[in-house]
Amino acid sequence: MKKLLIANWKMKPKTLKEAIVLAKLSDDKDIYLAPPYIFLQSIKNVLKKATIGAQDLFQENPPKGGAFTGAVSAAMLKSIGIGFVILGHSERRALGETDVIISKKIAIACESKITPVLCVGESEGIRKKGIEEAMRFVAEQIKNDVSSIPKTVKKMIVAYEPIWAIGTGNNDTPESASQMARHIKKILSDQYSIKAKVLYGGSVNSKNISEFAKESDIDGFLVGGASADPKEFKTIIKIIKSI
Ligand code: PGA
Repeated sequence: MKKLLIANWKMKPKTLKEAIVLAKLSDDKDIYLAPPYIFLQSIKNVLKKATIGAQDLFQENPPKGGAFTGAVSAAMLKSIGIGFVILGHSERRALGETDVIISKKIAIACESKITPVLCVGESEGIRKKGIEEAMRFVAEQIKNDVSSIPKTVKKMIVAYEPIWAIGTGNNDTPESASQMARHIKKILSDQYSIKAKVLYGGSVNSKNISEFAKESDIDGFLVGGASADPKEFKTIIKIIKSI
């Protein structure tokens, strides 16, 4: 089965010139790139095969614009052809983004026909209490984050990203990530009639991706640090394409 590969560049690279180089190297079929806002249009212009997305959008989408200094709306993203958006990333939650805000963003993305990639995942403290506790936490996050999703939405993408695994080199095991993926799919299917693709994220690299890819319930990957490293990401693409 084909696995989805999403690159979350976060606040990298530093310059437009480097961003264009990275985008060209990552430009492949079935690859989804999420560069910082500032580079979106320039990168879109050079991509031939990859799909481009944003790392966030603002929780209001007023029909006539609004007074929100520094914000970027779903309508703006849609107007330049953005296809997906990462929402609820733990790094944004750590900056104060609540489930209420995330649920608004999810609804706006869906209404604007931009595919949301909802990120969920537990802290180290929760995981230490056991996988059942982590599953309860993730179920609660999902319930809150999709609370305003339009009833017409029948498909979505969720990235399971345990916080303790992000950027630490301390990835989850493929077995636990797969167990969580099944759990997430079941919640969305049983309670919302939504068929979800579930990605794993958290210290994915060219050395560990093949093991995760063997798990049939893991539909792909959200790659952070390794996706902004041109050589490493090229290797990851090669591995994914060979599966
Ligand atoms: P990482 O980040 O691959 O650097 O751990 C993943 C993410 O934050 O999406």
